[in-house]
Amino acid sequence: MFRRKQAPAEVPPPDDMVVIVDRAVDPQLVVFHEPAGFRAEQVRALRNRLVALNPDGEPKTLVVTSAVRGEGKTVTALNLAMAFAELERQQVVVVDADLRRPSCEQYLNLNSEPGLSDVLLGKLPLERVLRPAGYRRLMLLGAGTRVPNPAEVLGASRLDELYQRLKERFQYVVVDTPPCLPSTDAGVLTARADGALLVVRLEHSQKRQTREALRVLQDMGGNVLGTFVTELRGQDPESDRRLAYDPTPTEEP
Ligand SMILES: Nc1ncnc2c1ncn2[C@@H]1O[C@H](COP(=O)(O)OP(=O)(O)OP(=O)(O)O)[C@@H](O)[C@H]1O
Ligand SMILES: [Mg+2]
Repeated sequence: MFRRKQAPAEVPPPDDMVVIVDRAVDPQLVVFHEPAGFRAEQVRALRNRLVALNPDGEPKTLVVTSAVRGEGKTVTALNLAMAFAELERQQVVVVDADLRRPSCEQYLNLNSEPGLSDVLLGKLPLERVLRPAGYRRLMLLGAGTRVPNPAEVLGASRLDELYQRLKERFQYVVVDTPPCLPSTDAGVLTARADGALLVVRLEHSQKRQTREALRVLQDMGGNVLGTFVTELRGQDPESDRRLAYDPTPTEEP
């Protein structure tokens, strides 16, 4: 732990220091809420594997998707983007490309503002709608103004241009998508991206649907890098305390 050399008079002594955690940010965002916990470490392990897959450190777009609703795509995308943002000198953005049921702003406790749809429709420049996500230097490109025709708005040529522009500015572009079986949006978003992760929710996801999702993504030319399993209750530190590895408390001076 860093120690203050000489605390200025107006700064409270360490004993009185208060750590403020924004409890309104969804508790599932474990990299934010429990950075030393087991689940945050699992996300960092995934991040490290993805970094290892990119030895030249080139800018990459990475889509997070799953077969059907409610499998943990958004939570995984946000946690992963936060884990990337923990790395030194990495500029990271998370994009809410679920134009049908956007939820990144809600998870981050931010207001809904213009974003992706407005950029894709040429209504606003990208620079105007990028904003801090509230965690380190992580930036957010929210879903933006609701549109009646998401599939058309996410046109392939517009997406190519957007991905390209985001990669000029960010090392990692993490894209949250709608589920890939009910609509074609996620397939299009995956086909244009550098890689994709398929989220599987333990005891909820159906093998048949996950297999079908994988087939759809691969048929569209997507580069599926692997799966991320959510709700691994059996390995929760609550069931096995040896899996939690918090730093030992340091002595106060
Ligand atoms: N790793 C996890 N462990 C336990 N619960 C989780 C985990 N990830 C997400 N959840 C819970 O599962 C629910 C769905 O999560 P999330 O919104 O990320 O799913 P989604 O796949 O993005 O859903 P949608 O398809 O509706 O966009 C939420 O209630 C969330 O709190
Ligand atoms: Mg979602």
